[in-house]
Amino acid sequence: MKKILILNGPNLNMLGLREPKIYGTQTLQDIEELCFEKAHLLDLKIDFRQSNHEGQLVDWIQEARGVFQGVLINAAAYTHTSVAIHDALKLLQCPIIEVHLSDPKAREGFRHLSYIEPVASAVVSGLGAQSYSVAIEKIADLLQ
Ligand code: DQA
Repeated sequence: MKKILILNGPNLNMLGLREPKIYGTQTLQDIEELCFEKAHLLDLKIDFRQSNHEGQLVDWIQEARGVFQGVLINAAAYTHTSVAIHDALKLLQCPIIEVHLSDPKAREGFRHLSYIEPVASAVVSGLGAQSYSVAIEKIADLLQ
């Protein structure tokens, strides 16, 4: 069974409480459950993780090399700042999908730049928790 790593960056552990008008009322645990259901339907195994620490995310990306067949990443605020995460993702040979609950390109100017986009096969954003579900479908297609 193909294995997909789903990485979540800073402050996503606060979903549900955090700016619900922008991010919705679902918690990260709700999103994790939704991802498990979707992955089950598509015969994929997922590993769902969150960290507030850039270095932890970099370590997980490095360790994913050769272990996972695809990576979904919502790097949250690090999307717009992290050359380290960009460089780590470049080490991977598997498809990468950038995911966001909101549409950063429709928000403040500082969210328009993404360091993930140049290394991603696709970007799914603006669909709330459904962005994760659509991203899992996309990665399943890419792995066909
Ligand atoms: C986010 C968008 C980012 O700009 C923001 O910093 C986040 C969440 C999203 O999922 O919409 O923390 O990645």
